[in-house]
Amino acid sequence: MGKLRFLTAGESHGQALVSIIEGIPSNLEITSDYINHHLARRQVGYGRGGRMKIEKDKVEILSGVRFGKTIGSPITLMIKNKDWENWTDIMSPEGEPTDKREITNPRPGHADLWGGIKYGFQDLRNVLERASARETASRVAVGSVCRKLLEDVGIKIGSYVVSIGGLSLADKIQDIPLEERFERAEQSELRTPIPEEDYRFKEIIDKAKEEGESLGGVFEVFATGVPIGLGSYVQWDRRLDGKIAQAFMGIQAIKGVEIGEGFSVADKLGSQAHDEIFWEEGKGYYHKTNRAGGIEGGMTTGEPIIVRAAMKPIPTLMRKKSLHSVNIRTKQPFDAAKERSDITAVPAAAVVGEAMLSIVLADALLEKFGNDNWEEIKERVEEYRRYTKQF
Ligand SMILES: Cc1cc2nc3c(=O)[nH]c(=O)nc-3n(C[C@H](O)[C@H](O)[C@H](O)COP(=O)(O)O)c2cc1C
Repeated sequence: MGKLRFLTAGESHGQALVSIIEGIPSNLEITSDYINHHLARRQVGYGRGGRMKIEKDKVEILSGVRFGKTIGSPITLMIKNKDWENWTDIMSPEGEPTDKREITNPRPGHADLWGGIKYGFQDLRNVLERASARETASRVAVGSVCRKLLEDVGIKIGSYVVSIGGLSLADKIQDIPLEERFERAEQSELRTPIPEEDYRFKEIIDKAKEEGESLGGVFEVFATGVPIGLGSYVQWDRRLDGKIAQAFMGIQAIKGVEIGEGFSVADKLGSQAHDEIFWEEGKGYYHKTNRAGGIEGGMTTGEPIIVRAAMKPIPTLMRKKSLHSVNIRTKQPFDAAKERSDITAVPAAAVVGEAMLSIVLADALLEKFGNDNWEEIKERVEEYRRYTKQF
């Protein structure tokens, strides 16, 4: 990160999730309602487990905002864990450990075993409490502040689910404009751009549930209205595509990231792979295609940024289909079956992806335009947009 820094803290069943963001300029309008709206979007999705019903996330702004506007100081966001009262002894920062809810069975596909070995724990709860995707609520809170900033200068962020469990809408959505895909996804329980086909996804999710299975999938996140020249080519770690890839790979269960046509462009001829450059009076430079997904040379081209991410199936499986693993004390196999878990969380992961893209873009924007007073910065962005059109 450049100008913007943030840290998240908090365990899944601890008292609260807390984030501190530094580098958001003063005079940005932000409310807890705005953040809560996006927190709620992360919680929807057919095929989610019981926990989503327990938690209705609500943010409390503890610092950095007065009377609905940022004051340039670090912003602290807290999301209380509603379940905390049932976990006070198990997650207590003081006193003696209780063996209640101790975990000695490492789950395949999770951080449990490797975290236990690395940090020296006999109770793997110490690992999973923090490795869990519950932490993504913090990222959505931080991402919402960044998203508000981007919206103020006409940059829109959206996402939609492309496939779940191998059932893909990729071929059917080609002719739907990006923002319309998003608007439609907002109406869909599964965040798909063709809600009329949700029943097909529900069928495979129901089948997976019956069989004790889980499903992964692919989602896309985009940004429109992005000015030319965010990011840089001058150093490897300033390339915007690199930063986006890291931000997305840093989401729990994300195993692949592409920008624009990504892997499929590798099979094309050079003449079919690149975006030709055009120019028009009053409009400036533009492309008729966007195979690059809005980034060339580590910088934004002014075309929409399109990021595609692959999520692995949820590792926690329900009865019937448990995966082999061994207890860390007895070294004996155990039954890893669970009563409840998400069957798939691709729609939620897409909302987390929106947050991560918002964070990376807000950082790049502030790097280019400064980060003291938002009123001043907004003018600078407008001035620069005029310049790029006239260049
Ligand atoms: C929004 C979201 C919700 C998730 N829900 C669950 C869940 O209910 N059960 C589970 O076992 N894994 C869940 N996961 C996946 C785990 O967090 C992930 O598999 C784990 O962190 C290990 O993946 P990694 O190797 O990419 O870190 C979820 C992931 C995301 C992004």
